[in-house]
Amino acid sequence: MLEKLALPFLHMMDAEKAHTLTMTGLKSGLVTRKAKENDPSLALSLFGRVFPNPIGLAAGFDKNAESMDAMLGYGFGFVEVGTVTPQSQIGNPKPRVFRDKSSRNVINRMGFPNEGADVFEQNYQAFREHGKNKTGIVGINVGKNKDQEDALADYVALVHRFGKQADYLTVNISSPNTPGLRDLQDPAELLPFLRQLVIVRNARCNTPLLVKLAPDLSDDECKSIADCVMETGVDGLILTNTTLERPEFLPESFRNEAGGLSGVVLQDKSLDVIRQFYKHTDGELPIIGAGGVDNAESAYAKIKAGASLIQLYSALVYQGPNLPNKINKGLVKLLKADGRENIGEAIGQE
Ligand SMILES: Cc1cc2nc3c(=O)[nH]c(=O)nc-3n(C[C@H](O)[C@H](O)[C@H](O)COP(=O)(O)O)c2cc1C
Repeated sequence: MLEKLALPFLHMMDAEKAHTLTMTGLKSGLVTRKAKENDPSLALSLFGRVFPNPIGLAAGFDKNAESMDAMLGYGFGFVEVGTVTPQSQIGNPKPRVFRDKSSRNVINRMGFPNEGADVFEQNYQAFREHGKNKTGIVGINVGKNKDQEDALADYVALVHRFGKQADYLTVNISSPNTPGLRDLQDPAELLPFLRQLVIVRNARCNTPLLVKLAPDLSDDECKSIADCVMETGVDGLILTNTTLERPEFLPESFRNEAGGLSGVVLQDKSLDVIRQFYKHTDGELPIIGAGGVDNAESAYAKIKAGASLIQLYSALVYQGPNLPNKINKGLVKLLKADGRENIGEAIGQE
């Protein structure tokens, strides 16, 4: 209730200031409650864990691992924290986050501002020791520092450092706001890069290693990246990050901002990328679907296109923290209407 009252107020503020204020509330612990039981039809076993429901919080909301206890309490089935880089960095100049309420989209060019791996680890460990939801599923999303020329070195350091702590690790090579990062998606670079990370992971732990990709890929690129990823032994994909595309119908002042676009406008594009990868991997590589999910129907569509789990961020900005519960209730109804007993039965069943 309190959260609902706060939304219009937060929407009047600059987007990043509103987020900082929200984080202050979330990390204070005052709103943190223990996660409620979910309907059993939503539970899914994956990566050696049982996800209580398929709706996760996407990376970027909590870059320093400060709010996962509160967010799990709001009903997310899992939370991904980061992107964390080895060293702290300030990111791009502000303002760097823009909302368009009329179309329910967001543009950001944050550039991985974060307090670095040391602070991140302290926060993460405090949660694992004292959190009300300390056994909840938390993935750690890793990236490289802007001024690091040897990208692999940063990823190796973070896979080594967080491998034993995370429930899963996400290798983020798809943010459009770190110059050159997306070049790592080129199969010629991707193959040796991922092979090396899998070696580092294998030497340390058996934590699932996922790769997060951009939506701005042609069908041919999806096919060659899928072939490449299958060769490397990574455990899953996150599809997708934000897009560089700017549909004409968006208001001009918003559309002209540089950065990655997310929200409703990304729904179909990411859906298509999920469909492509599901097909090219014969459904054998688990996919976490992200991009414009804002209700049960859009979450269900991604699952039917091949996603095993879902993530969202932008819709939270417009609808507030009761969104995961709302989506999960809707999913239970959609499953029943389709005569399915468990969410797993819907994966890839378009
Ligand atoms: C303000 C903002 C910051 C983000 N930061 C990150 C990030 O640090 N790392 C990452 O992998 N994705 C980041 N993302 C992308 C989201 O995790 C997600 O993939 C994308 O926004 C699509 O989902 P959505 O339409 O539900 O927001 C960010 C998105 C937004 C809106």
